[in-house]
Amino acid sequence: VTDLRSPLDIRGMRLRNRIVFPPVTCNYGTTDGNVTDDLIGFYKLRTGGIGLVIVEATAVRPDGRLVPGSLGLWGESHLEGLKHLVETIHAGGAAAAIQLVHGGARSFPSEGDMLGASPSGYAFRPDVRPFVMEQGDIERVTEDFATAAQRAAAAGFDAVEIHGAHLYLISQFLSPLTNTRGDRYGGGPEGRAQFPAGIVKAVRSRLGPAAPLIFRLNAVENVEGGQTLGDAIAVSHSLVAAGVDILHVSLVAQSSWREIDGRRFLVASSALPKDAPAGANAANAAAIRTATGAPVIAVGKLGEPGAAAWVIAEELADLAAIGRQMIADPDTALKILDGRDAEIVRCRQCYACYASIFRGQPMTCSVNPTPWRHGSAERA
Ligand SMILES: Cc1cc2nc3c(=O)[nH]c(=O)nc-3n(C[C@H](O)[C@H](O)[C@H](O)COP(=O)(O)O)c2cc1C
Repeated sequence: VTDLRSPLDIRGMRLRNRIVFPPVTCNYGTTDGNVTDDLIGFYKLRTGGIGLVIVEATAVRPDGRLVPGSLGLWGESHLEGLKHLVETIHAGGAAAAIQLVHGGARSFPSEGDMLGASPSGYAFRPDVRPFVMEQGDIERVTEDFATAAQRAAAAGFDAVEIHGAHLYLISQFLSPLTNTRGDRYGGGPEGRAQFPAGIVKAVRSRLGPAAPLIFRLNAVENVEGGQTLGDAIAVSHSLVAAGVDILHVSLVAQSSWREIDGRRFLVASSALPKDAPAGANAANAAAIRTATGAPVIAVGKLGEPGAAAWVIAEELADLAAIGRQMIADPDTALKILDGRDAEIVRCRQCYACYASIFRGQPMTCSVNPTPWRHGSAERA
């Protein structure tokens, strides 16, 4: 029987178990996208008991960063620090992937031609003015993803994840809410998947057949007019056909429109709310897994007691990702594998982590005052 301890081989990448540390932007990088000691410390502590670490959203262009301290892969100068990060993750026994992103109109404000890049011009923050991408813009950003993926491979990463979730640029193309284009990049799910699938193909051709490619997408967007599970399944077929090996099934858990000075902004959160049951997104992962036959990563409150083991035992997903609970207690995965659940220092789901990074500050946690250093987690 398959359980959390079962290894998994995907396109030559060996995972020692089924637990994933998903991308978590800690905002510990430098303002030019480089690795710091605190960032290394943060990841070093989160390799224990983990099969696959997916390093946080890393910008393919400086104008696509999510926070001021987002990591970057837009230049050769980023390689040295990332090599050190890969070595750190490998030394802990986990495989290492890195998530590639462009934030589009949801990026942190900076200089650059693609700041505000958008399928149809919807705004996400008052300080970034969106513009509608033309064919040439689409080609440039596609090329930026491919080049960044090639650099990720050169840094030693075992796999690359394309960030197609949470209403950043790629996700905005996939969503019927934010993509109302009339050209070949819009329309039904196949049209909306055209730009994302083009990125997948470009990345695949640059990496060659040996590299595992992960794509993170929303299973559902909980907002009027947002993507449905049916849309996500249709899109998943296009992505797998384009060369994706693993689908990482996230969601837009909560979203709403806000109005400031007569302009409308869409705000969105990737975390299930406190009152949602553990594993509330797992059935969506299972539906996408069944429909496509591709291996999937499930995510969403799987750090709660028994939830990760349940997802794997019930074969709802091939891999189970644990986010916030691993911030609060970096030994969560080890404790789950050892049957020491009672010793886990519990995440309070207080959103202090999100609040800190979206204020542009280094990530903080209300139960773990120094997420980058060991021994300081509050004992329950
Ligand atoms: C502080 C913070 C930063 C995050 N950064 C990213 C990110 O860079 N890329 C991404 O795809 N998801 C990001 N997420 C979402 C997580 O990967 C995960 O999907 C989410 O926390 C839900 O899982 P959980 O319920 O186990 O926490 C972030 C979440 C948090 C709390």
